Amino acid sequence: MAKSGQHGGNVIQMAQKYGLEPEQVIDFSANINPLGMPHSVKQAIIDQLDCLEHYPDIDYLKLHQAIAAHHRLPVEQVIAGNGATELIFLWTNHLKPKKALLVEPSFAEYRRALVRAGCEIVQFDLQETDDFALTEQLLSALDESFDALFLCTPNNPTGLMPNHDLLLSIVARCHQLNIALFIDESFIDFMRDTPSLVAQLAHYSHVAILRSLTKFYALPGLRLGYLLSSNQILLDEMRDQREPWTINALAALAGEVLFADTQYVEQTLHWLEQEQTLVWQELNELPGIRAFKPSANYLFFKHLEPNSQLQAQMMKHGILIRSCANYPTLNQQFYRIAIKSRAANIQLISALKEVLHHG
Ligand SMILES: Cc1ncc(COP(=O)(O)O)c(C=O)c1O
Repeated sequence: MAKSGQHGGNVIQMAQKYGLEPEQVIDFSANINPLGMPHSVKQAIIDQLDCLEHYPDIDYLKLHQAIAAHHRLPVEQVIAGNGATELIFLWTNHLKPKKALLVEPSFAEYRRALVRAGCEIVQFDLQETDDFALTEQLLSALDESFDALFLCTPNNPTGLMPNHDLLLSIVARCHQLNIALFIDESFIDFMRDTPSLVAQLAHYSHVAILRSLTKFYALPGLRLGYLLSSNQILLDEMRDQREPWTINALAALAGEVLFADTQYVEQTLHWLEQEQTLVWQELNELPGIRAFKPSANYLFFKHLEPNSQLQAQMMKHGILIRSCANYPTLNQQFYRIAIKSRAANIQLISALKEVLHHG
């Protein structure tokens, strides 16, 4: 099991540690859409609650068709999972890479999946001097000794989206070197008009693209994600060998209806445009903070105080922020906050002002 401090969202443990009830804490540590689950999804679940009395379709045909139609891909190129996390482990376990290049800091589960598969991991460190941006140096770090590369676009926790041309060069280089490329686009839906690498699947079978539906559609407790790839052999093997029914009937139902809710997508992007700008501008004005420009629904920053205790100080205001101290290459000066509703964002900013001005 992942340790409770390894991810954001561990409100219960943190509230207990600081003598608070979980309801007294505003959670800025998990990057979940504050608009909440789409009404259309909630209604479908209420209306069809009785579906729990049956096993889900073992092939999840309707769910896979909905995802395939959304991306205009053949249904065989889609595999859904119990959250994106299940698919990180499933893909890694079936590919069984011997040596992988892992960009850090990034989402912790890639490393855990690779370790479980017995893979040798070589770490590629993003540099603070490059503002943690992915650079062309990654291209020279790749050679034929690797058989897998993991990339998170936009990256978690840094919130940065690599340049699209660089991503295309990485796709080409991995193809040339026979390296399986795992691209995690779990937060890309939060970025308006941003090109995805899904278009590359038609040309390249070495690329796998991961999407989570739990962040954008606010369903982390329901669990739903999917993987897209034109590597038919690998996908068939994953389908054949996985445990049956890992996606519950309500999650499958949610996935069948949510793509139709274009109004929810528009509302989300509209909310984010407003709040991302506000939080970014306000953080830039705070003393002792170096904020990195966000591209999705979270913001990464450095507290320029070597002995930073910002997480503990903010908990005294009932605000939980994500300490990034446990990411390889980062330390206790780095934090990530979710972008939330206007009211919550204002509370966050005034608590930060209070802490930074008065300790
Ligand atoms: C980059 C990234 N990928 C995947 C996941 C897993 O998402 P899910 O809730 O769909 O398992 C997370 C969760 O935090 C994440 O940050």
